[in-house]
Amino acid sequence: MLKKALAILAMVVSLHETMAQNAQVSSLSMKNIKLDLTIDNGGTLFYSVTYKDKKIVAPSELGFTLTDGVDMHTGFEVTSTETRSVDETWQPVWGEVKNIRNHYQQITVHLKQKAATHYLLDIIFRVFEDGIGFRYSFPLQPDLKYFIIADELTHFNLTGDHKTFWIPGDFDSNEYKYTTSLLSQVDNRDMVAKSTSIAVRIAPDAQAVQTPLMMKSSDGLYINIHEAALVNYPAMQLHVDRKTFHLTSSLVPDAYGNKAYLHAPCNTPWRTIIVSDNATEIPASKMILNLNDPAKTTNTTWIKPMKFVGVWWEMQTGKGTWNYSDFPDSTDAKGKLIPNGKHSANTANVKRYIDFASANNIKGVLVEGWNTGWEDWFGKWKENVFDFVTPYPDFDVKEIIRYATSKGVVMIMHNETSGSATNYERQLDTAYRFMNKFGYPAVKTGYVGRIIPRGEHHDGQWMVNHYERVAEKALEHHVMIDMHEPMRPTGLQRTYPNWMANEAARGNEFNAFSDDGNPPEHETILPFTRLMGGPMDYTPGIFKIKGYASYAPDRQLHTTLVKQLALYVTMYSPLQMAADLPQNYTERSDAFQFIRDVAVDWDDTKILEAEPGDYITIVRKEKGKANWFLGAITDEHGRSANINLDFLDKGKKYIATIYADGATADYQKNPESYQITKQTVDALGSLHLVLANGGGAAVSFVPVK
Ligand code: NOJ
Ligand code: CA
Repeated sequence: MLKKALAILAMVVSLHETMAQNAQVSSLSMKNIKLDLTIDNGGTLFYSVTYKDKKIVAPSELGFTLTDGVDMHTGFEVTSTETRSVDETWQPVWGEVKNIRNHYQQITVHLKQKAATHYLLDIIFRVFEDGIGFRYSFPLQPDLKYFIIADELTHFNLTGDHKTFWIPGDFDSNEYKYTTSLLSQVDNRDMVAKSTSIAVRIAPDAQAVQTPLMMKSSDGLYINIHEAALVNYPAMQLHVDRKTFHLTSSLVPDAYGNKAYLHAPCNTPWRTIIVSDNATEIPASKMILNLNDPAKTTNTTWIKPMKFVGVWWEMQTGKGTWNYSDFPDSTDAKGKLIPNGKHSANTANVKRYIDFASANNIKGVLVEGWNTGWEDWFGKWKENVFDFVTPYPDFDVKEIIRYATSKGVVMIMHNETSGSATNYERQLDTAYRFMNKFGYPAVKTGYVGRIIPRGEHHDGQWMVNHYERVAEKALEHHVMIDMHEPMRPTGLQRTYPNWMANEAARGNEFNAFSDDGNPPEHETILPFTRLMGGPMDYTPGIFKIKGYASYAPDRQLHTTLVKQLALYVTMYSPLQMAADLPQNYTERSDAFQFIRDVAVDWDDTKILEAEPGDYITIVRKEKGKANWFLGAITDEHGRSANINLDFLDKGKKYIATIYADGATADYQKNPESYQITKQTVDALGSLHLVLANGGGAAVSFVPVK
């Protein structure tokens, strides 16, 4: 108690000192958010953020050190400032809502160093109704052309020991379970040691966490820190000072320890802080999208959100293999590969998935393990494992495409790079021409393992540029993209509307290949963290909750079956997989009806109630239609929810089909129990939903004809 009081006192004193020395530069406000800019005697610019008269971020310094000890954070004076305000509305190519309002006040602060070097630095701040964004801009100047960032010194001096939902500052993987702790308790060593991540783990700073970082103050304010428009720069992680609750930007280094190689004039990504006293407003914020550049093309009719099934879970669960032979050297006397008899990506099996998709309102079929190389790919650090155009002998590309087309289904390409990003870049043109030639409209990419050859990190500047080059190349070739093992998204799907989804978090697959899987709270945290940056390919829809893994019979998901349905609404993605095996869906065709019906593109979205780590309920209106879909999920604790239906069109009657957990459902004891009921409802009514422990509810609302 005494320790805490002293810490608070120290904080107040230091805050007071900073305030006392600093000269006011400017102040901007929008609704409940206020930004103050000051400069201290030493010539460092500080910003602070207030929400409804509460200080959220105390004065926090800004700037850089460049390599060779070049100082770009002290000795500045403000030469001028410019302001402007914007209020516009734009339409995303696809998304959670039809119209997005971009409403902000902007100030650009022009800084110049007084010393002989006279370095110039601009900092641009935007104040929105729900938070602030700021970015650094290095103007064209005589003494700074090519330069290297040694450290970004951006501080986020928080004003309390907030409850925080965090994953460790790993440079290569974001596939972690979240820890909920106070800022003063952040210590990632245990998590990194225990992680079952399939990338190579490097997290040298025990107090570093990744963004989007979600926090809740003791007086009920929700604070989210992330970044927008991560281009030509490394991902920002945050170092947490456990005593002062000051966070400092900590950029992911390259293979040599440098942070970013830049060429003036240039900008950094935006640093974002979103604040509300209402949890639902955090995932509803459109600030990150607004801070990204508009779409690079207006020719977007080929970009089509869709549901898909895949030759995938059967390999994840050990029923089949990606590889055609058991070993790379399993060849016969003529040098031909000897089949192992378990290769899933064979023409006959793929046709089964095509038939299933075609019969069930599912547009796409993904096939993994179709191309040669899978005998020897995992963790091998080899350059040229895959060429992305050579099928195994039992996979007949032409026949599969012919068959799919005849059934109104499209095929989704798979390009696993096994971390060899350079090899992939060399082959990009060939790979995308192959997709164009055979009519694959979309590709799922992957970067399992260490990035070779130089050992760059998944979240460093080099790979950030790689992912963008891939998105750009895909755009050029009219290919939609779904990246696995990329950097976590920062809203670039606005600029590249073909960059439909990313994994970039711990997906449903961990329930297959790890013992602990994903805990029931996991999916209630993701909307406040990972999903802040963009859609996730979580691969929902597993119906067989227990006993699916042939190599680990006790393994089970930590959700009910109905919660898997609700994820189609709560885990937004324009590419949404129905991840289970067709036979598991056929056996429960009545529950599968929700997946058949649910949309993947929306005119409207409302987050009805939410608490990170506990529950979330979302309703969405199907694009161009009158149908609504509801998804409600909870953590390990069951709950009930009264849903006011006033989001429905007034005066219209709807058939509500309610997919609910069974009366005795429980994610551990009885996860597959469900009940389906129908009711006629309208906007004046309400629904009472009961969610089991680890459960959910899914509802479709279709107007009565
Ligand atoms: C990891 C991906 O997340 C998973 O979906 C894929 O099946 C494997 N890599 C193989 O590429
Ligand atoms: Ca993965």
